[in-house]
Amino acid sequence: MRIVTTVSAMRRQARRWRQSGIRVGFVPTMGCLHEGHLSLIERARKAVGACGKVVASVYVNPAQFGPFEDYSRYPRDLERDISLTRAAGVDVLFVPDDREMYPTNGDGSFSTYVIEDSVAAGMEGASRPHHFRGVTTVVAKLFNIVLPDIAIFGRKDYQQTAVVRRMVRDLDFPIRVIVGPTVRERDGLAMSSRNRYLSVQERERAPAMFETIRLAREVVRKASAPLSAGQLRRRLIQFLGGQPGVRVDYVAFFDPDSLRVVQRVRRGTHLALAAFFGKTRLIDNGRL
Ligand code: PAJ
Repeated sequence: MRIVTTVSAMRRQARRWRQSGIRVGFVPTMGCLHEGHLSLIERARKAVGACGKVVASVYVNPAQFGPFEDYSRYPRDLERDISLTRAAGVDVLFVPDDREMYPTNGDGSFSTYVIEDSVAAGMEGASRPHHFRGVTTVVAKLFNIVLPDIAIFGRKDYQQTAVVRRMVRDLDFPIRVIVGPTVRERDGLAMSSRNRYLSVQERERAPAMFETIRLAREVVRKASAPLSAGQLRRRLIQFLGGQPGVRVDYVAFFDPDSLRVVQRVRRGTHLALAAFFGKTRLIDNGRL
């Protein structure tokens, strides 16, 4: 596995592959890798085949964190990420630093952003202003540097997949976006680099996120007619927020394609939730 740290070297490599007609699959990450990330790398390999190349990136992107969020304490473990990606069969690990990604060249601060204005508006976008602007900007930059044919994202961040898909369509990136399923711990907790923040007690309560999705599924399955979103939301907030030390940020029901919020919940409606377990903010989602 080759480790590349500069934009120019990554781009040279990408151009050589392109000239040779080699297909490239790309998995962008912020590192501190877990089985969720590794499943996307596996999916990338499947998509490009043995003759293709798989690139993963590790970059904790400051532009997608709010001023009071966890940027400075976001977990970093590059040595471990290198051995995991090597074992997973990654061809190139791209690990740029901030000066590579947000150069100022002495002429002022970085000042060009990619903004998706519709699917990014609600849920994570409403709770975390500028978050998706940071995501779309860095993903567009990474796409321009790595020049992948295929990019793989996880359903764990459902809204992010919708925002990236829309950006790829609207800005004509010649890239196929594949979305891999959410990988969970045995007790249902969606894997996340942020799970490391949880205290033992919080970790014990964290499966309540997935239990909330299961509860919603059960209610929808048993219902003979579409349900009121407001009523079901109250019930889910009561359940999740009733756990000690848990503060619900949002519970949202929406159409899985348009991401438009719905007033009536039926089978196929998508549910997304965010909640604080102590200081740690967890998200999860699922189809009902
Ligand atoms: P990060 O949180 O490191 O996630 C990288 C990729 O792994 C994303 O596509 C995410 O959806 C996926 N992922 C995370 N947990 C997963 C799980 N349990 N199962 C399946 N996939 C999972 O998402 C980001 O980084 C950043 O926003 C990024 C796209 C890299 C831009 O900075």
